[in-house]
Amino acid sequence: MHISIIGSGYVGLVTAACFAEFGLQVTCMDQDPQRIAAMESGEIPFYEPGLQDLVRKGRQGGRLTFTTDLAQAVNQALVVFITVGTPSTDDGSVDVSSIEAVATGIGRAMTSYTVIVTKSTVPVGTGQRVKFLIESAQREPVRFDVVSNPEFLREGSAIEDFIRPNRVVIGAECDESVAILKDLYRPLYLIETPIVATTIETAELIKYASNTFLATKISFINEMSVLCEKVGADIRMVAKAMGLDGRIGSKFLHTGPGYGGSCFPKDVAAIISTGKEHRCEMGIAQAAVDANARQKTRMVEKIRTALGTINNKRIGVLGLSFKPNTSDIRESPSIAIIRLLLTEGAYVQAYDPEAMQETAQQLPELKLCSDSYEVSDDADAIVLATEWNQFRNLDLERIKKQLRTPIFIDLRNVYQPTRMANMGFQYWSIGRVSPVPM
Ligand code: UGA
Repeated sequence: MHISIIGSGYVGLVTAACFAEFGLQVTCMDQDPQRIAAMESGEIPFYEPGLQDLVRKGRQGGRLTFTTDLAQAVNQALVVFITVGTPSTDDGSVDVSSIEAVATGIGRAMTSYTVIVTKSTVPVGTGQRVKFLIESAQREPVRFDVVSNPEFLREGSAIEDFIRPNRVVIGAECDESVAILKDLYRPLYLIETPIVATTIETAELIKYASNTFLATKISFINEMSVLCEKVGADIRMVAKAMGLDGRIGSKFLHTGPGYGGSCFPKDVAAIISTGKEHRCEMGIAQAAVDANARQKTRMVEKIRTALGTINNKRIGVLGLSFKPNTSDIRESPSIAIIRLLLTEGAYVQAYDPEAMQETAQQLPELKLCSDSYEVSDDADAIVLATEWNQFRNLDLERIKKQLRTPIFIDLRNVYQPTRMANMGFQYWSIGRVSPVPM
């Protein structure tokens, strides 16, 4: 079967490469000729483990091709996926103008029965809007179906998430389009992936409800960590014991400096906005947003308490991306914290295995270091902001020697408080009482 992917960003390219791996004939379209030329020469515009190899394999096997021509992409495919961006607007609602433009383009180009699938995260009602725009743009009536098939990919493990998903959600209006989509995902039957077939509106909402729930879970544990510090409890044990209850589950109970990335902040804001539109108060989602904002400022308070003052201090930061295994710094708590530190007069030096280039463009006043150890050079404190594997097994003696004062602020609870104290660090973490150095 031949399919096309419109929009070769993160979701689009992962989807294209994985479907090509499933053995389908895939055309990946983007309006940006430079992006397409780069991808044709084997370059991937962002860092995602395993993606470059998968794209190369698809291209070499002749199953993955690239184009800037929307009409060509639409005409040769039975299924067309829309994977263009849906950014947030200032009021938290979602800008679906790129989706609308693509829908109109598809309507104009379509010459035979096609299934149009929205994979981008889109507000409830977008599927019907896409249907309307395609119908309006058609020069002569051509039969088509619209389907919602939201993605649940996590940056950093997107390929694994695509190939071994927890579930596939298909929102459709007719059995024919559901059957076609099921056929695309046939390799997943072998691993008995549950397929949830439902209406378009329900599928659209499942995506937002899932992300909002996960964001709320993180905000919940972050708020608990504050209480842990006040009452002398250990958040790791609280989370562990909570997670052993099958109804709660152990995932997404890891406390940190707040959630970030291109999805959670945007999607929680969007569901609040959809709630407003329908006069439905989304109080829990709003509380998750507020707690997340507080968490970042609390991290700066923690650093201030550890150092006495932030002004004129040299602070080393490990990790810039919003989480490990990605170069993405969008809504990264590390970046938000660095900005606050800079505003308070700190001199910040930082290192990240993948996100240095992006950060250099956004924060030119930040000193970027060449490795994990340069970060501690002559610094008054070191802050571990993103839990990259490289930072889990650091040469702590070396870091201690390089620091002016042995202050280690671990915003991801990577290290053991007692061990750090025994090594002579003033160790600060989240939701755990700091032991006194020996
Ligand atoms: C998230 C969802 O997990 C995906 O299922 C979804 O497809 C994706 O959004 C999307 O909507 O496209 P992603 O943004 O890549 O994926 O990142 P996550 O791994 O979910 O992490 C989000 C943030 O939460 C990170 O800042 C991470 O550090 C933080 N987090 C996560 C915690 O602070 N604690 C945890 O226990 C888990």
